[in-house]
Amino acid sequence: LDNGVGRTPPMGWNSWNTFFCNINESLIRGMADSIVSTGMRDAGYQYVVVDDCWMNPNRDSGGNLQADPARFPSGMKALGDYIHSRGLKFGIYQAPLDKTCAQYFGNYPGATGSQGHETQDARQFAAWGVDYLKYDWCSPSGTIAEQVATFAKMRDALAATGRPILYSINPNSIHAKTGPQRDWGDVANIWRTTEDIQLVWKTDQVNGYPMGVQNIIDVTVPLAGYAKPGGFNDPDMMEVGRGTLTDTEQRSHFAMWAVMAAPLIAGNDIRSMSAATQTILKNPRLIAVNQDPLGRQGVQVAGDTNQRVLAKRLSNGDVAVALFNQSGSTRTIATTAAAIGKSGASSYTLVDAWTGATTTTAGTISAAVPAHGTAVYRVSGGTTGEPSTPAVFSLVSSSS
Ligand code: GLA
Repeated sequence: LDNGVGRTPPMGWNSWNTFFCNINESLIRGMADSIVSTGMRDAGYQYVVVDDCWMNPNRDSGGNLQADPARFPSGMKALGDYIHSRGLKFGIYQAPLDKTCAQYFGNYPGATGSQGHETQDARQFAAWGVDYLKYDWCSPSGTIAEQVATFAKMRDALAATGRPILYSINPNSIHAKTGPQRDWGDVANIWRTTEDIQLVWKTDQVNGYPMGVQNIIDVTVPLAGYAKPGGFNDPDMMEVGRGTLTDTEQRSHFAMWAVMAAPLIAGNDIRSMSAATQTILKNPRLIAVNQDPLGRQGVQVAGDTNQRVLAKRLSNGDVAVALFNQSGSTRTIATTAAAIGKSGASSYTLVDAWTGATTTTAGTISAAVPAHGTAVYRVSGGTTGEPSTPAVFSLVSSSS
């Protein structure tokens, strides 16, 4: 979407994965403070997104959305001001249909959806200082045409406010098993690719619900052609730092989100994150790959049920290559400079995104990668062309 924002994937934090409906203004303020004090802001994490359950279940007598007075007694404008005072940006959740997802599932009272209130609500968000709207189609029914029309109404209402507001949509509830049926880049800055991420590496319900990290990668990799500045596939908020996943799996999760040009929206409790979590989330080399202004999503140049090789072309001519081991045991995964679009040099330089170590190669790029691990190298030297992608992508489901 050409609205001046989201030229690179948005980075930030969202309340849902850890707190669900258990949110209030002191929690959000404390999180903003921690995003600053931990160095997350300076690493690039900008948006503080208040997910579902911030709202009063009833609109006011003028039909305006209002904050839940018990959870957000100072109101959303004051919260936005606080977030802005910390050098951060303010994001909020809303739904187009009559109910938010928590309202739809009966976990929160009321019915405050924006349908029929788009202009009024967009103005309200702008008046509160909102910089990011997550707009969630929470209903298994509807058609793609209805979704396009409904999401476009809010796109236009946001544009009419004159405030640059990053527009995040979740169209996925009506086609959860297949992934997006269209390129949403004309409608939104980011669009979800699957049902909600779950705190698990992989489930047997490939392309179904619930979605593990590996399942989401399976769906999102083939969508690489949709990504561009202003429009990115959104494989959902990250589960890094939330336990359950191994350290190797968490590093793979982050590395693959970075190389897939995904929004990097942390979902963990920033106030109490470990040093190991910080090392992953603040990795400067992977963040630079993710935030590269060319806005490419890594494309798969080789892959089978055991492994994937992704190549992400970068603006300075370098190429990031990810060697992702989706099998259950250590594998040596190899590709070549030629396969990732590099040519014309007798030697290329590789910088390991995890260690920062530099090596050189005449052409082979290879690593012994642990089960569920990902090696990432930034490759420079020679000239750069398009990676040799398979002509047709199909969803490749992993072996273990
Ligand atoms: C949907 C979305 C989630 C979250 C919840 C809130 O499930 O996909 O990311 O916003 O709604 O109810």
